[in-house]
Amino acid sequence: MKNQILVTGGTGYIGSHTVVELQQAGFDVVIVDNLCNSKAEVVDNIEKITGIRPQFECFDLTERQAVRDFFGKYKQIKAIIHFAALKAVGESVSKPLEYYRNNLTALMNILEAMRDFGVPNIVFSSSCTVYGQPEHLPVTESTPRLPAESPYGNTKAISEDIIRDFCKATQGVSAIALRYFNPIGAHPSALIGEAPVGVPNNLVPYITQTAAGIRQQLSVFGNDYNTPDGTPIRDYINVVDLSKAHVVAINRLLNGSNKANYEYFNIGTGRGLSVMELVNAFIKSTGVDLNYKIVGRRAGDIEKIWADTSLANNELGWKAEKNIEETLLSAWNWEKNVRGIK
Ligand code: NAD
Ligand code: UD1
Repeated sequence: MKNQILVTGGTGYIGSHTVVELQQAGFDVVIVDNLCNSKAEVVDNIEKITGIRPQFECFDLTERQAVRDFFGKYKQIKAIIHFAALKAVGESVSKPLEYYRNNLTALMNILEAMRDFGVPNIVFSSSCTVYGQPEHLPVTESTPRLPAESPYGNTKAISEDIIRDFCKATQGVSAIALRYFNPIGAHPSALIGEAPVGVPNNLVPYITQTAAGIRQQLSVFGNDYNTPDGTPIRDYINVVDLSKAHVVAINRLLNGSNKANYEYFNIGTGRGLSVMELVNAFIKSTGVDLNYKIVGRRAGDIEKIWADTSLANNELGWKAEKNIEETLLSAWNWEKNVRGIK
């Protein structure tokens, strides 16, 4: 029998790609999502890609009884990948309570259910935001975490701590937190991808929407940073590569090859790219010209960060494989598909 995995937030951006990779690796997937930032059609598109329809339960994970009812019904779940969270950094500054309530209550309901219903394993979506602006680059897992810049970032740091303490206190449970750098791109089928609501905050969706003519111009936020071309540097990781890291983490937990019952890994490419390098790579790989303008810095942005991925490479045996050109082309193909552009 296939091992059954619960994917919370499985109709969202990273979750949907991970459901595809899990199904293709032979897992039976159950999605829970309340569709606050995604659409039910994603389930159809996952089925189009894999030929398998994942089970889907629509409810809010902050509702404790609903979570308990779910685990009472699905008794075969062997592991959870917990993606479900609110993730808009700017919005979290104006609505801190909503972010703390949603992200922390959902996590605690799930951990409580793991304990009470005997589910042994969880993989958690963390973020490189826990490092803030590090002093030394690239960042390793032993780089100290810095105080969070936003309530969203703080929910990630607090969630990591809650999971660590839960694993220490609870016999028979194990967790892996994956600290994602900047996920971008879409599935090569162009059937699933990132679907931001309203004006995108993140760079790549803004680029593809500008290329599609939905936005007039990309604003490049600052070229006076202490970097070779003056624009900030990030580690952009292909979403399919990132999704595969979750399959590896699940296998590690299921076969008991984890070295501690709470582990955490950086998931990036190990390579930093500046905003202008990314813009130029987009133009080169798609052949589409991009209208952009250098404007002032965006408040709260850090100057540069990229990952040391040695631990994930050596310990998980996982490595990012796709190059930036094919990743940006996949983002553009997805945008074209969504907009009906030939
Ligand atoms: P997303 O918004 O596309 O997906 C999250 C999903 O969770 C959505 O479908 C949403 O409807 C669902 N959800 C939220 N709250 C819920 C609740 N209370 N009950 C049920 N469902 C709920 O986001 P994503 O980009 O796929 O991110 C997935 C995870 O990865 C999040 O935890 C996010 O914080 C983390 N992360 C994302 C990035 C990034 O750049 N995208 C970077 C680092 C970490
Ligand atoms: C932000 C969050 C991070 C979160 C990530 C993905 C902050 C401080 N960090 O990361 O916690 O995990 O989003 O949701 O908010 N840029 C432009 N023009 C644009 C958009 C972006 O020049 O229109 C630049 C930014 O200045 C930045 C780079 O592009 O240098 C990447 O920005 P973005 O995609 O928003 O990601 P981060 O800021 O790295």
